[in-house]
Amino acid sequence: MSSDAAPREQDILDALKKVEDPDLHKDIVSLNFVKDLKIDGGVVSFTIELTTPACPVKKEMEQWAREAVLAVPGVRDVRITMSAAVTRGAAGEGKQSVPGVKNLVAVGSGKGGVGKSTVTVNLAVALAQTGAAVGVLDADIYGPNVPLMMGIEGRPRAIGDRIQTLSNYGVRVMSMGFLTDRDDQPLIWRGPMLHSVIQQFIRQVDWGELDYLLVDLPPGTGDVQLSLTQTVPLMGAVIVSTPQDVALQDARKAISMFRQVRVEILGIVENMSYFQCPKCGERTHIFSHGGGAATASRYGVPFLGEVPLDVALREGGDAGKPVTALAPDSTAAEVFRGIARQVAAQVSIANAHNVGVVIE
Ligand SMILES: Nc1ncnc2c1ncn2[C@@H]1O[C@H](COP(=O)(O)OP(=O)(O)O)[C@@H](O)[C@H]1O
Ligand SMILES: [Mg+2]
Repeated sequence: MSSDAAPREQDILDALKKVEDPDLHKDIVSLNFVKDLKIDGGVVSFTIELTTPACPVKKEMEQWAREAVLAVPGVRDVRITMSAAVTRGAAGEGKQSVPGVKNLVAVGSGKGGVGKSTVTVNLAVALAQTGAAVGVLDADIYGPNVPLMMGIEGRPRAIGDRIQTLSNYGVRVMSMGFLTDRDDQPLIWRGPMLHSVIQQFIRQVDWGELDYLLVDLPPGTGDVQLSLTQTVPLMGAVIVSTPQDVALQDARKAISMFRQVRVEILGIVENMSYFQCPKCGERTHIFSHGGGAATASRYGVPFLGEVPLDVALREGGDAGKPVTALAPDSTAAEVFRGIARQVAAQVSIANAHNVGVVIE
């Protein structure tokens, strides 16, 4: 073919078939990611629609596609639009999905105080920063910390019979903390009441259209947590642990609990992994080290990242200013963006499995 002739659509598609999604292990043409292909003389334009705006290899994928198409004889210019349509997760057997909410992801830990809410909030903000529509359901009815950590005060309104969320940093939130009078008054409720509150938070709250709804579960692996994971239509769970043996033991219990109710483990986050000296840069592993990664490999689940022990994280939490939003250049924010990309990738992989995409 002379290089002056306009390229044919089939040649472009053949070239794009060489571009593979590294997470789904399939080429982007077979995955149906290539849309709106137009050839105007030597100018080729198309859209690549990924399964998440938080795709870890978005830039690389664009570059690979550009190079592949530019190598086709007759192509002078390539114009690529990158977009994303988040895939919908399975609600789990016998569970009714939430209309408009594509993926309910639990953030769980066996033990309290390991930084579950801190991780939930920063993960939510990091996902929202990629352009995803994100919400947080604070299911920690007895210790609802999310409003404080997200810097949200006030009472939700109801429109008709739908309770409206309150938002900050681009994240929609619902929490028992919005509904109680005094935050120093612990709630003493028994299981069934707790369940009906969670059910209302899921079914009667106007979540709108969400790609990811993160559910900050109460700590522990007892009956309450078990039945919550059974009733909430979760597509997956992220486990938070510190590197300490006691916390890891509880993290293992949490993994078993989710597996028992067939909720996919999207991975483990190790929080308070190390302290980096702000003066000399030396890392100290205050709560031991490497336990999160070791546990992940032992259970065959992804390791999602290490969050440092960082005074700015604690201060940000107390002040309602998540570091990911307020200090985006900090190490902690960078770490959370990495975790967000990993979580989004794992959601996409799990959802691809569910619609029968064969992943080698
Ligand atoms: N990586 C971290 N560095 C510094 N402080 C942290 C970190 N993670 C959590 N914290 C602090 O530890 C306390 C407990 O964290 P929290 O997220 O409320 O835990 P959980 O929800 O598991 O009970 C909070 O005061 C929080 O600000
Ligand atoms: Mg908490």
